[in-house]
Amino acid sequence: MQPVSLAELESQFAALREETQQALAAASTPADLEAVRVKYLGRKSVVTDTLKQISQWPAEERGAVGKAANVFKASLEADLKSHQDALAAQPRAAASIDVTLPGAAPQLGRLHPVTQTMAEIVELFRALGFEIVEGPELELEWNNFDALNIPRDHPSRENFDTFFVDAPSPDPKKGQPLLRSHTSPVQIRVMQARRPPLRIVVPGKVYRPDPLDASHSFMFHQVEGLMVDDHTNFSDLKGLLGRFARQYFGPATKTRFRPHFFPFTEPSAEVDVSCSRCAGEGCSTCGQKGWLEILGCGMVHPNVFKAVGYDPKTVQGFAFGMGVERIAMLRHGISDIRLFFENDLRFLEQF
Ligand code: DAH
Repeated sequence: MQPVSLAELESQFAALREETQQALAAASTPADLEAVRVKYLGRKSVVTDTLKQISQWPAEERGAVGKAANVFKASLEADLKSHQDALAAQPRAAASIDVTLPGAAPQLGRLHPVTQTMAEIVELFRALGFEIVEGPELELEWNNFDALNIPRDHPSRENFDTFFVDAPSPDPKKGQPLLRSHTSPVQIRVMQARRPPLRIVVPGKVYRPDPLDASHSFMFHQVEGLMVDDHTNFSDLKGLLGRFARQYFGPATKTRFRPHFFPFTEPSAEVDVSCSRCAGEGCSTCGQKGWLEILGCGMVHPNVFKAVGYDPKTVQGFAFGMGVERIAMLRHGISDIRLFFENDLRFLEQF
């Protein structure tokens, strides 16, 4: 049984075509489009019904009916496809990138200037065969003072004003725990644990209860050096530190060894480098002296060797110690140590 005439069927499809066009225009999500497809092309749609019932049409009209249904079907499928494509492209368009906006600069991390300086210093010694060693920041009085030939009542002990730690000592024979006031106690630890020959550099933090000002901080960094064998002498020390100064501060750098006193070395010296800003002429950086003090050093004192169980008659060696912040300040012309610890990015990003 034929439900309608061919002419009616054709105008029905034409009306449906318009309806689907409006439905598609109103569809804003993939789900909307799917609903349109189900309604007009699905199992219960006019098209499907028509094609299912085609045998009920007179034989001579079946071709035209089938064609009308298939034309409708094909055109709606094509429309659906183009709407689907348009929708798929839309989310990107909505979140589109304005290429004229300034970009967000990637935040690159960097090593802190103190870390960089410490790494550069130890690298120069490592290249000469020195081994990099670290020690604890929480030390005992004996390692920090007594074994370094600084007895309890020695006036020089005041130079190493110290943060004592109010805690029971793990080894009462070695005195109170304290925050190490220099990296020199690591010399003691290494010599006690090993036999010569030794060549070590020790980077690390040290603590002193100094009021904070442009050149003092209660925490700062040092690099310690120690070389021990049976023949190392003061000339080796001079050669090594002169080379270090030229490598770190530039090839024209001169060094000067001034006699000094340290309890753990004899003889002892302080080392100055020629001021690179004024080339030794005298300026505000070097206080008109033309020289900048960079470290302390000397030949290891026999009492230090005795303290660690070495025989001072058969071994000899030198030691040196430098302040990392001080060295970085001299090299880069930084006038205030506090800049290292305030961690203002405008400062840190310059290194
Ligand atoms: N420990 C000394 C200080 O903190 C620096 C120093 C001087 C270390 C002479 C040494 C040395 O090893 O031989 O001021």
